[in-house]
Amino acid sequence: MTKVSDPLTINGMTVKNRLTFAPTVKFDYAGEDGRVTEKHVKHYTERARGGLGLICVEATAVTPEGRFAKNHLGLWEDGQTEGHKAITEACHDQGTVVLIQLNHTGITGNPIFGTPVGPSAVTVRDGSMSHAMSIEEIHEMQDSFVSAALRAKKAGYDGIQLHGCHGYLINQFVSPKTNLRDDEYGADKALFAAEIIKKIRSECGDRFIISIRTTGAEPDAKSAIKAAREYVDAGCDYLQVSHGIDSFTEKLKKEGEPYSDLAALGVNMHKAMEGRVPVSCVGGLLTPEPVRYMIENGLTDTVDLARGVLADPNFANAVLNDTAYTKCFECERCQYGPGTKHVCPAELKRQKAMR
Ligand SMILES: Cc1cc2nc3c(=O)[nH]c(=O)nc-3n(C[C@H](O)[C@H](O)[C@H](O)COP(=O)(O)O)c2cc1C
Repeated sequence: MTKVSDPLTINGMTVKNRLTFAPTVKFDYAGEDGRVTEKHVKHYTERARGGLGLICVEATAVTPEGRFAKNHLGLWEDGQTEGHKAITEACHDQGTVVLIQLNHTGITGNPIFGTPVGPSAVTVRDGSMSHAMSIEEIHEMQDSFVSAALRAKKAGYDGIQLHGCHGYLINQFVSPKTNLRDDEYGADKALFAAEIIKKIRSECGDRFIISIRTTGAEPDAKSAIKAAREYVDAGCDYLQVSHGIDSFTEKLKKEGEPYSDLAALGVNMHKAMEGRVPVSCVGGLLTPEPVRYMIENGLTDTVDLARGVLADPNFANAVLNDTAYTKCFECERCQYGPGTKHVCPAELKRQKAMR
C-alpha cells in the first residue's frame, strides 16, 4: 500500500511525498510590473517549510495581455526572472520540487488589455467578439510559452506546468465550444499545447519537468483522456487534473466514495493513464482523511491541496504526521479577484492562537 509519505519520481526527480500545493494566484501580491515581491517569497517559503513534496507556483502570465489583471505575476520579459530565484531557493532548501504554472487568459482576457484573443471569434464577457488567432499568431503565442519556460529554468524551477484547464487559452483550444477552427488546430484540439510541450522539451532539455494541468472532461472524459495521451506522447511528464469548460456533464464518481466530483476527474484520468506518467487530483480535500484514502487506495499518485494549504501552511505536515492544523473555513472568499483585501479567517485564527 502506498502511503502519503512515500516518495515519487517525476522525470528522474524525487518528490519526497505525495502532497502538492496546487497553483493558487495571490491577488494583489504582484505589482503592475508582474515581478515577484517579498509577499510571494514569504508565502511560498512558509509553505515549503510546511512539508509539501511539490509546489506549483501560481498562474503566471506569458504575455502582458494574458494577465488576469494589472497586478498579476508574469514571466513575459527577462527582468522578471531574477525575483523568482528566492522562491526556488526556499523550496530547494526544504527538498521541495518546485514548478511554475504558465498561463494566458485567451478569450477570458481582461478587456483593459485590448481585444481578447483565442482559437476562434466567439462572444466574450462584455458582449464583444474575441479575435481568432492566425497561424502566425498561434506560433508567436506558443513561442511566448517557450520563452517563459526558459526564464523559469533560469530562475531555478525544476519544471513548468501549462495551465490547460479552467477555461483559459489552452483549454479553449481543447473545447469544441470555443475552438471552431477548420484547420489543423481545429481538427486536433490538443495540438496547440502538444506543440508547446515539444518546443519546451527541445529548448529546456530532458532534465526539466513538463507538466500540464488538464481538464478531466472536455467535452467528455473520453476526449479529455485522448488529449492527455497526446500531451504525454509529446513529452509531458506529469498530469494534474482539474475541471475545464464542460467538466461536470458525466457522473464519474462511485456512490459513497469520500471525495468530490472534481477529484473524480483525476481518479478517472489516473486509471486511464495506467502508470505512463504520474497523475494528480484536486478538489475539496481539506482534511487528512480523504487525502490519505486516495493515496492508500491507489486512486491517484499525488494529491493537490489548494485552500487547505492557503488556510494553513502546515497542512501537509498535519496529513503526514497527524499533527494539529487550522482547517479551511470554506468561505470561498479567497477566490475573489484583485482588490478585495480579503483576509483568510483561518489565517486570523492561527495568528490569534500564536499570540
Ligand atoms: C485563491 C485561489 C486561487 C487560485 N488560483 C489558481 C491558479 O493560479 N491556477 C490554477 O490552476 N488554479 C487555481 N485555483 C484553483 C485551485 O488550484 C484548486 O484547483 C481549487 O481551489 C480546488 O482545490 P481545493 O478544494 O483544495 O481548494 C485557485 C483557487 C483559489 C482558491
